[in-house]
Amino acid sequence: MALVTGAGSGIGRAVARALAEAGWTLALAGRRAEALAETSRLMGLTRPDSPAVLTVPTDVTRPEQVDALFAAVRDRFGRLDVLFNNAGTFGKAGPLEELGHEDWRAVVDVNLTGAFLCAQAAFRVMKDQDPQGGRIINNGSISAHAPRPHSIAYTATKHAVTGLTKSLSLDGRPYRIACGQIDIGNAATEMTGRMQSGILQANGQMASEPVMDAADVARTVVHMAELPLEANVQFATVLATNMPYIGRG
Ligand SMILES: NC(=O)c1ccc[n+]([C@@H]2O[C@H](COP(=O)([O-])OP(=O)(O)OC[C@H]3O[C@@H](n4cnc5c(N)ncnc54)[C@H](OP(=O)(O)O)[C@@H]3O)[C@@H](O)[C@H]2O)c1
Repeated sequence: MALVTGAGSGIGRAVARALAEAGWTLALAGRRAEALAETSRLMGLTRPDSPAVLTVPTDVTRPEQVDALFAAVRDRFGRLDVLFNNAGTFGKAGPLEELGHEDWRAVVDVNLTGAFLCAQAAFRVMKDQDPQGGRIINNGSISAHAPRPHSIAYTATKHAVTGLTKSLSLDGRPYRIACGQIDIGNAATEMTGRMQSGILQANGQMASEPVMDAADVARTVVHMAELPLEANVQFATVLATNMPYIGRG
């Protein structure tokens, strides 16, 4: 069974639907209960005989809520095979000299601390369960490789997610815990609404950028999730084909 965080919208919702279609039993987490319920309803439309779904409203920045989420998963399903560690936020965009301490903290709390807390809780379950092992798939970003202007908190935390992925991979080896990362560029979601309407480029100009369907990202996550534990996609980059990234722009 698989747990998806940030499952109430965007990529998390698309991945939940794709995993359900592939026959996975799912738990969905995110702060908004009604958004999780809508994802669950959409999964039922995709696949009317959709396997069991557990929705657990959770703020991933709160350790006690993360503990409660993983306890609920263990109680209901007895094990956890895959965590899609997806909850994230872009935060406030703007010149870094104007970024407030609280703005910085808000992004670090979700993208780094929240991802760590969920990965740690998954690691504990996967290490203890019988048969032992499982897979953690972290959601990085193109910003784990290259920044957009005015995105220091997002860029720093997404680079840090790469560190989480590498440490989890290494520390997971003795326990059959695999960890991989998907780095996405411009999937059409709430977070990337500005990519189409016009977003600041490195040369100072505003430009709209190509986007792709989140469902095409989801197909890659399903592939990563379904590999046997002896094989791992360590890093996958899935981006809108013509977005500015390759070729220094
Ligand atoms: N779209 C892209 O092109 C793109 C590119 C690179 C990386 N990503 C990454 O993909 C992930 C999903 O982004 P998205 O594009 O699908 O945007 P989105 O629709 O805004 O999704 C973000 C999700 O994270 C959840 N979330 C935020 N803060 C949370 C918290 N404190 N606790 C629990 N859940 C929280 C939100 O649900 P609630 O508000 O209900 O909590 C929401 O469902 C993020 O990690 C993002 O960095 C996306």
